Amino acid sequence: MARNATNKLLQKAKKLKSDEFYTLFSDIASELQYYKEHFKGKVVYCNCDDPRNSNFFNYFVQNFKELGLKKLITACYKEQTNDLFDTKENEDAFFYEYSGSENENLNQADFVYFKGDGDFRSSESIGLLKQADIVVTNPPFSLFREYVAQLMKYGKKFLIIGNINAITYKEIFKLIKENKVWLGINLGRGISGFIVPDHYELYGTETRIDESGNRIISPNNCLWLTNLEVSQRHKDIVLTKKYAGNETEYPRYDNYDGINVNKTQDIPCDYAGYMGVPITFLHKFNPDQFEIIKFRKGNDGKDLSINGKCPYFRILIKNKRVQTG
Ligand SMILES: C[S@@+](CC[C@H](N)C(=O)[O-])C[C@H]1O[C@@H](n2cnc3c(N)ncnc32)[C@H](O)[C@@H]1O
Repeated sequence: MARNATNKLLQKAKKLKSDEFYTLFSDIASELQYYKEHFKGKVVYCNCDDPRNSNFFNYFVQNFKELGLKKLITACYKEQTNDLFDTKENEDAFFYEYSGSENENLNQADFVYFKGDGDFRSSESIGLLKQADIVVTNPPFSLFREYVAQLMKYGKKFLIIGNINAITYKEIFKLIKENKVWLGINLGRGISGFIVPDHYELYGTETRIDESGNRIISPNNCLWLTNLEVSQRHKDIVLTKKYAGNETEYPRYDNYDGINVNKTQDIPCDYAGYMGVPITFLHKFNPDQFEIIKFRKGNDGKDLSINGKCPYFRILIKNKRVQTG
């Protein structure tokens, strides 16, 4: 095979790797505990989940009564098997509906087969999406932008897992800035790991095997993204630092009228202008306390810089409740 074609396949394989991270039950339970009041009488759709191995399915079946759910729909995608790296059996795509029966055992006879491949963008899957109130899953990372765009288009509530980098996608950042979506509670090390398939090569990353023999990878770079209200996001960040008297700690940008702040906890409580903060600020962001202005770029369209050097990506914010005196 020509080197170019091999490279392309390797790149595709790399990109698809995180599409094969399967979520742990404990991580789902640890996030879902904050949103329980949203689920009463609701239809939940897990549209990237094989009920035979999805812990989202397991979680919602086990907590069906406690949450007061109306229905759970779980749809399994049929993997495409047209390149070297696909290893899954070419099974049919199907969905399964659970309405709280006492018998929680999965019965294949109850699977409803899709005519197509069960892609979340297919008309069949969208038909199910329209019936749903809340979508909860870990979707394929490589399709994250499209995935979120579809949820927004159909006006659905959601709680999904993504990579922290997703914050920096312009489409996703725009939604965060407009206060249409926000970060969930757990992020980074707060999400303990993902089950990876046997063919997944474990190298150079933090890995372990759990008591059931699952191979777990802990990538430390994932987050929950949601548009479900949660009280934690209305808690103020406690600000103990002052700008007045400490101006040298907060250098000004060359290409924007604002100061640089290296850590969220160092945001000065008395600064009324624009401030550039690390993207991890979003984890603590309270929209009642701060306004998000823009991401990364100065007035000249280039990355924010100080004396010609660019600190890491910054989000420009403004304090809505400046403490003076
Ligand atoms: C990151 S894995 C997570 C699986 C499961 N949601 C979980 O959290 O354990 C993403 C899943 O999406 C499925 N998938 C990939 N492309 C898809 C598509 N276009 N439509 C629906 N599902 C897809 C994959 O088969 C894979 O099982």
